[in-house]
Amino acid sequence: MTTTRQNFPRNAWYAAAYDIELNRALLARTICNQKLVMYRRQDGTPVALEDACWHRMLPLSKGHLDGDQLVCGYHGLVYGPNGRCTSMPSQQTVNPSACVRGYPAIERHRLIWLWLGDPALADPAKVPDMHWNGDPEWAGDGRRIHAKCDYRLVVDNLMDLTHETFVHGSSIGNRAVAEAPFKVTYTDDRVVVTRWMRDIEPPPFWAYQLSKKNGAAGRSDRWQIITFEPPGTVTIDVGVAPVGSGAPEGDRAAGVNGYVLNTMTPETDTTCHYFWAFCRNYNLHDQGLTQWLREGVTRVFGEDETILAAQQQAILDHPDKEFYNLNIDAGAMWARRLIDAMIAAESPGTPRPLEIAA
Ligand code: FES
Ligand SMILES: [Fe+2]
Repeated sequence: MTTTRQNFPRNAWYAAAYDIELNRALLARTICNQKLVMYRRQDGTPVALEDACWHRMLPLSKGHLDGDQLVCGYHGLVYGPNGRCTSMPSQQTVNPSACVRGYPAIERHRLIWLWLGDPALADPAKVPDMHWNGDPEWAGDGRRIHAKCDYRLVVDNLMDLTHETFVHGSSIGNRAVAEAPFKVTYTDDRVVVTRWMRDIEPPPFWAYQLSKKNGAAGRSDRWQIITFEPPGTVTIDVGVAPVGSGAPEGDRAAGVNGYVLNTMTPETDTTCHYFWAFCRNYNLHDQGLTQWLREGVTRVFGEDETILAAQQQAILDHPDKEFYNLNIDAGAMWARRLIDAMIAAESPGTPRPLEIAA
């Protein structure tokens, strides 16, 4: 395990809610150990404020909306979307220091993203790339999982899909996953793990999709290309194509291709919000297929949830123990180095892990 003081950087965009979760109502949510209240203005743009009234600290999420303003549910202080108090009961002048902290919020790729660090650094161009989730060329849907583990355990899980063989044997895993070689490449802001499984029998999840598109499913080439973007986003280009149809050489036309989009946001040090979606680029208007895929992936990720919660509990039960790294952990190791580098950059005086490694 890493020995850094904090598990996560603050200067990053974190997904806080799915678009459909946020409405004209107050939504309380904890992000990076910070209690927040969120809502949409009348024009739909998202707002995120500290969830404790300046006056006597009642959670503002217990109040109500009045137009774009939030009214505290205890003594009626009114706050604007920037967190500044605009009205106080029984007095004409508003105390100028009366405010709660507001956080930059942006809606993109069907998610609401928040920036909890230095607002001057909140560059919208840095929102992680999950564009498939909303691109008309792709169809799909997803969910939020409340995972009872450090968000980095989910990153580890997604960066090494060898576990599919053992955790997801009835759907997406078979021996071919654990047996196939893989390649890891990295830069200072990405880690990519590429695995091709050639001439294999596709597992049930993929055989079904291939037969949906082509009418039949036989031996196939299967790929998993995992891209990590720190601190918590993992997008996985996945698919299968009939063996000999040219997919490894770049022609995927005869196959089926999906993107598993994942972004994990720390809730506390030992829990996280795990937002995922599965998008595909074939049979775009087949609602039944969208539902079948969403329910299928929900079942698959349910298997991960059980493992991850048990792993987190074991980590808490054995504070003196460490992880050991195998070859299969190369992608996760690099992902954690990039996370550690972001955390170190926010802690002056701490040597940067990437400098140590160099
Ligand atoms: S606690 Fe919010 S107005 Fe008093
Ligand atoms: Fe899994």
